[in-house]
Amino acid sequence: PAGAARDPRGVLTLGGIPATELRERFGTPLYVVDEDAVRARAREVLAAFREATARHGARARVYYAGKAFLSTEIVRWVREEGLAVDVATGGELAIALAAGADPFHLGMHGNNKSMAELEQAVSVGIGSVVLDSAIEIERLAAIAERRGVVQRVLVRVNSGVHAETHDFLATAHEDQKFGFPLQQAPEIVARIRELPSLEFMGLHCHIGSQIFGTAGFAESAARVIEVHAELLRGGDVPVLNLGGGFGIAYTRVDDPTPIAELADGIVDAVAGECAARGIPVPNLAFEPGRTIVGRAGVTLYEVGTVKPVQATAAVTRLYVSVDGGMSDNARPALYGADFSARIASRTSDAPPALARVVGRHCESGDIVVDAEYLPADVAPGDLLAVPATGAYCHSLSSNYNAVPRPPVVALRQGTARVIVRGETIDDLLARDMGVAAPNEVTE
Ligand code: LLP
Repeated sequence: PAGAARDPRGVLTLGGIPATELRERFGTPLYVVDEDAVRARAREVLAAFREATARHGARARVYYAGKAFLSTEIVRWVREEGLAVDVATGGELAIALAAGADPFHLGMHGNNKSMAELEQAVSVGIGSVVLDSAIEIERLAAIAERRGVVQRVLVRVNSGVHAETHDFLATAHEDQKFGFPLQQAPEIVARIRELPSLEFMGLHCHIGSQIFGTAGFAESAARVIEVHAELLRGGDVPVLNLGGGFGIAYTRVDDPTPIAELADGIVDAVAGECAARGIPVPNLAFEPGRTIVGRAGVTLYEVGTVKPVQATAAVTRLYVSVDGGMSDNARPALYGADFSARIASRTSDAPPALARVVGRHCESGDIVVDAEYLPADVAPGDLLAVPATGAYCHSLSSNYNAVPRPPVVALRQGTARVIVRGETIDDLLARDMGVAAPNEVTE
């Protein structure tokens, strides 16, 4: 994990702090996020896209995709490092605003934004709204008109490139809910250009998440540039937003393309396509989420039970149960996502044993790490660290089995502080309207 090392006792340290000290102070399970690592990564990603676009005489804006991991503190970190923020709901918008983010540096997404969300976005002066349907165009135009403002908008298109992790496949008619088919964009944009309360800024496309390599992005950009060029004949098209989706390493076998190489590859593909069509390179926008926060997060758990199970005649597997699971990390259950684990509280000379790290929930699919080699003496009380949990773990967390969400602790320059407090059972009971009701039952 980011900033991880071992102290002389063999205890894993995170940002210079022993994991055992974090357990004593904050308990387990615990989401730990390295603020220094988030900031450094935000700077690195911003620099990569800025430099790649500057070489072609254009500018780049990077929006942090808040859905990956959002709290007011995280918004402040990425804003201070020069990133804008992309929100997908009124709730995410409220968090960004509560962090003091300038609304002009926010963008809003969503295939079914409510009237209330659109009103909220327009009323605070959001920088851009990414339009996702014909119905929404009319709704947003009416709201902006009523408020006497001109709202900047992008149009989400579906490039027909659906990138899936290491692979991508092209289909002419993608069967999914987001955006407009690319061929429809000219007609949609013509409609927007008729509406005085909307200002068309450009196209937006996002091809998927946890994508490795540039091929899918380059293919998608090439297709979108063709339409972008066509739209230039009808007026200005100041930006092109190419979305996020840049993959990270979850385990040793993952080998993602370095971000600078990825940025160069994508932007060079865009520039090549623009040159071929004799148009200037537009200012570009990107929306990375996972690559900013993913590897800056670690979850700490305490081992509760260890149980050897004869998996097959030849294989014995240690089931190592921890005090969290699918409520704090739904990704293995949802996507079959792979993570790794190691003992954080000590080193061990015991031989490696095949282990499955599982949670405390009432489902056999409640897996944290499907297959990992842990020291054969792994035992109750050991602290386990699961790295790369900074993206889509806290944001996808739930109260399944009435389990309170863990706190989030941020590490900065050798200090640790709670940035999102953990839930308590009282938090859960507080919403249950039956709890405080007078007992009507007479005996
Ligand atoms: N922009 C748009 C329009 C998006 O829909 C997304 C992610 C992003 C940007 C950021 O993508 P990123 O850079 O983080 O890959 N829960 C799933 C991932 C869902 C991604 C949804 N959209 C997971 O845990 O893998």
